[in-house]
Amino acid sequence: MNAPPKTFRIKSFGCQMNVYDGERISELLNENGLSAAPEGADADLVVLNTCHIREKAAEKAYSDVGRLRREDGSRPMIALAGCVAQAEGPEAKARSPMIDIVVGPQAYHRLPQMVAQASHGVRPVDTDMPSISKFDALPKRRSATPSAFLTIQEGCDKFCTYCVVPYTRGAEISRPGGDIIAEARTLVDSGAREIVLLGQNVNAWEHEGRGFAELIRTIASIDGLERIRYTTSHPVNMSDELIAAHAKVPNLMPYLHLPVQSGSNRILKAMNRSHTAETYLSIIEKMRAARPDIALSGDFIVGFPGETEEDFQATLQIVDAVGYASAYSFKYSARTGTPAATMEDQIPRDVMDDRLQRLQDRINAHQLAFNRSKVGVETQILIERAGKYPGQMIGRTPWLQSVHVETDAKPGDLIDVALISAGPNSMTGAVRQKEVA
Ligand code: SAH
Ligand code: SF4
Ligand code: F3S
Repeated sequence: MNAPPKTFRIKSFGCQMNVYDGERISELLNENGLSAAPEGADADLVVLNTCHIREKAAEKAYSDVGRLRREDGSRPMIALAGCVAQAEGPEAKARSPMIDIVVGPQAYHRLPQMVAQASHGVRPVDTDMPSISKFDALPKRRSATPSAFLTIQEGCDKFCTYCVVPYTRGAEISRPGGDIIAEARTLVDSGAREIVLLGQNVNAWEHEGRGFAELIRTIASIDGLERIRYTTSHPVNMSDELIAAHAKVPNLMPYLHLPVQSGSNRILKAMNRSHTAETYLSIIEKMRAARPDIALSGDFIVGFPGETEEDFQATLQIVDAVGYASAYSFKYSARTGTPAATMEDQIPRDVMDDRLQRLQDRINAHQLAFNRSKVGVETQILIERAGKYPGQMIGRTPWLQSVHVETDAKPGDLIDVALISAGPNSMTGAVRQKEVA
């Protein structure tokens, strides 16, 4: 059990930033002589890169740990990483004796040393949020998927009253522009054709007097980069300059994920969102003026403490007013240590279930309507991966819709298609003419 591991497997849960961290951890372990375990084979080291955003996510992490025990009673070395690790700290070791390493999202550059310690029977915990950026200690990027993630900003100072992120990811920090541009170039050189800039509040990025819109313009001009996207934005940081970039930068994709959480100003205030339904809608209006075909996406929470049927109706109204191309909705989950967890008038589960169902029905109807509005449209898709059937590939439109298409194009190819049919979650396309990467 304590032999130094040779192979590893990483399982990432939660947001795209965890996916990005998982890729960086993988590169780091490679650099230190470990290799990814082949599909289906046991790994010597398993890294669970966890998410703490909702109650069930944390429970899931512990049950995933339990399931790593093998039939013969042995188990791999287990590293609990990500936001559950940050929140639980040393507690995690007490809760599960199977956990060898606990490493937070700002400390994973130290994982190789921790693995060495664990090989000597120590159970190291590192949930520090050091001032020296982990990014400086990580090896250079080596490979890239056709659409590659790039974290440019981490942490959050917004303190929405329901949310654990400011505690698990720490204060808002922007990476230096030069580092980001260098990483973007490496990604493009390694085969990325699209870059998705990531941050908990990506549009709050700011470094040495430069803002996010300027960063987008610089990255967009990298030779060979066909598409640029970003997520997740906060309404408060949605500057006019950023909105204008959607009109001016041709490879900035017409898609915006802008969570609103609720349509009720009373609830937004209790959530400490620092925007109202009206200020949110005015951003949407400006964005549509700048880029009329923009696809809009959002996040919603139903059943926040004190939410009445009237408040919930206001949420349905904002869904209709925006006409989302896609949206994510969640039942409120009380998180220990957050102000909302001790607010009065917590909403019963059955009320939440009912509201979530009604909200999702409404969102699905808008998604389907958006997808249908694109039937007959000729556009380009970026091929990302093979589909279920032989000869079928899956790519993305500029509006981020998944398109199934029969083609001999490869991941990374941008191909011209006509969109021929629409479902609520994906579309079918037919090839027009191929442009090879
Ligand atoms: N920084 C982003 C999103 C962070 S978390 C933003 O502010 O918009 C992703 C989503 O999870 C949030 O937008 C919210 O909808 C949801 N979420 C966060 N905390 C939650 C909680 N305690 N219960 C239910 N959903 C939550
Ligand atoms: Fe959480 Fe709010 Fe920060 Fe988003 S802005 S990460 S919801 S505290
Ligand atoms: Fe989850 Fe942490 Fe992301 S709590 S949503 S993995 S920032």
